[in-house]
Amino acid sequence: DWTPASIVDDSVAAIRAQVGDKQVVCGLSGGVDSAVAAALVQRAVGDQLTCVFVDHGLLRAGEAEQVERDYVEATGVDLVVVDVADQFLDALAGVTDPETKRKIIGREFIRTFESAARGIVERAAAQGGDSGEVEFLVQGTLYPDVVESGGGEGAANIKSHHNVGGLPDDLQFALVEPLRTLFKDEVRAVGLELGLPPEIVWRQPFPGPGLGIRIIGEVTRDRLEILRAADAVARVELTAAGLDRDVWQFPVVLLADVRSVGVQGDGRTYGHPVVLRPVSSEDAMTADWSRLPYEVLETISTRITNEVREVNRVVLDITSKPPGTIEWE
Ligand code: XMP
Repeated sequence: DWTPASIVDDSVAAIRAQVGDKQVVCGLSGGVDSAVAAALVQRAVGDQLTCVFVDHGLLRAGEAEQVERDYVEATGVDLVVVDVADQFLDALAGVTDPETKRKIIGREFIRTFESAARGIVERAAAQGGDSGEVEFLVQGTLYPDVVESGGGEGAANIKSHHNVGGLPDDLQFALVEPLRTLFKDEVRAVGLELGLPPEIVWRQPFPGPGLGIRIIGEVTRDRLEILRAADAVARVELTAAGLDRDVWQFPVVLLADVRSVGVQGDGRTYGHPVVLRPVSSEDAMTADWSRLPYEVLETISTRITNEVREVNRVVLDITSKPPGTIEWE
């Protein structure tokens, strides 16, 4: 019988057996999966682990700060933050196809890790230590990710999740994937067992490609700024209404190539719509649209159109999964 404690014991033993005395690097995304995966690896091999937080410019408001502050405070883990927004946004310039975006983001992630890993080795050498090569990369891949990327039995390749399907052929690391057999609720239980703070354990899932797959159309700095502002309003208001744990995920999507006529302030505007996509789900394999109270939707709509100048229309997605996916791309 599996309990959170027995899952922790089993995976700690498995990680030790796999990794030995080698160095391990783990990308933190700010989400619960990578946080729990890293905490398991830290429990298993301690300071052989270095975490890397990639600020790829596709993050939501405040996310980088939250990882640097809350996670490091809770775990004491060794964290390197790299700012590679320019690199990612240059690579994404002109790209509109969702799968191409995912592949590019996945590729840039891995390149970033490889150079971060070289940096870690050099840093250790400069300090007179012998860290050896970094040989392992931790991924917070869950069971549903494996299934949806075609890795499970008889599953179709629905989307190539960057952390499963999008890895390059010449990957320089062996993967450590301690969550590969777990569902989200089990991951949360393991996170609590490991003593991670509730703000991290109960965080809503957020996709690795970030806001890059929530801008329908080309990803640009200006568009990211618009979406970040609208998303921040939706998150704050959902939390203020006490509904953030009931809602599985709340994507806000910018229809960047669509414009519609509106009237804001003194005059006619020709702005962009954002889509609110709150869903309820058990494991992201299926989902239903959340029946949020009208008052909460009203507050979000009013605030977004008042505070985000470029947005003049807020629409609600009332599609379940299937046939819609949770994300729009
Ligand atoms: P969909 O949109 O397929 O999403 O219903 C299912 C769950 O997976 C997340 N998602 C991703 N996570 N890399 C990730 O790490 C990705 O490329 C990716 N695409 C979707 C999505 O947010 C939802 O939780």
